[in-house]
Amino acid sequence: MNESSTTPTAGWKNFGHVFRESVGLIGFWMTLRYLLIWLLSYKPFADNSFDRRHGTDTSGLVPTRDLDIDDDATKWQSNLYLGSPARVTRYIIDTLDIDPADFTFVDYGSGKGRALFVAAEQPFKKVVGVEISAQLHRVAENNLIRYVGEPLRSDIELWCGNALDYPLPEGDLVLHMYHPFGPDVLGLMLQKIKTEAGEKPRRILVPYLFSIGVAKMVFREHPDFVRVRDELCVNNLYRWTLYELRA
Ligand SMILES: C[S@@+](CC[C@H](N)C(=O)[O-])C[C@H]1O[C@@H](n2cnc3c(N)ncnc32)[C@H](O)[C@@H]1O
Repeated sequence: MNESSTTPTAGWKNFGHVFRESVGLIGFWMTLRYLLIWLLSYKPFADNSFDRRHGTDTSGLVPTRDLDIDDDATKWQSNLYLGSPARVTRYIIDTLDIDPADFTFVDYGSGKGRALFVAAEQPFKKVVGVEISAQLHRVAENNLIRYVGEPLRSDIELWCGNALDYPLPEGDLVLHMYHPFGPDVLGLMLQKIKTEAGEKPRRILVPYLFSIGVAKMVFREHPDFVRVRDELCVNNLYRWTLYELRA
């Protein structure tokens, strides 16, 4: 990004340009309507309400191109960093209808760790964050030190590396994913989870947030992951799907 594009003057010039173009295309009143809708809409990348309460740094967006991942093939199968809104994670966990004390919660692609803190509001056996970017992992480590507020009810562990290399923990699991990978890696992850789950009966739940077509397609190719629930939540802003591994 060059400096001029970040100055307020450049921002307003740009806005004026887009506004005039839009008026030319769809007229003044429609432009005003869309502008108002945009101004009033929820902007997840600008939501720092969790950080203001807890003294952490979990906000903002880090595009894939800025993720510190050396291997290009892995990098372009990694999705950008954007924290889940806390109320979405809370809603998902409440809806699982489980006793958290029986489960380990793993967030694949945990980034700066917001979903981990929200999960740790519940007494899970343990909460684990798995993040490929060393920079984001370090931010999450600092957040563990900075966090203030109600005492957390689970221990949080952070693991830095490719989720494909992280051994599946023992016992009943909630494997949270906020659209972390491209379809190739997601397919490999599902295969890995199934292989490492073993024969012993146990519950493996996969709440998948931002459940778009391409992710759904990968789950359809792995029918042992049975779709239990699929819905929009929190003012219809977020689609999530709950899968359960039933081998
Ligand atoms: C949309 S963010 C999710 C953030 C967090 N889970 C939350 O809900 O707040 C996706 C994250 O997945 C990470 N990621 C992508 N590919 C990964 C991989 N193969 N292994 C581990 N983390 C990965 C990215 O670096 C990014 O931080």
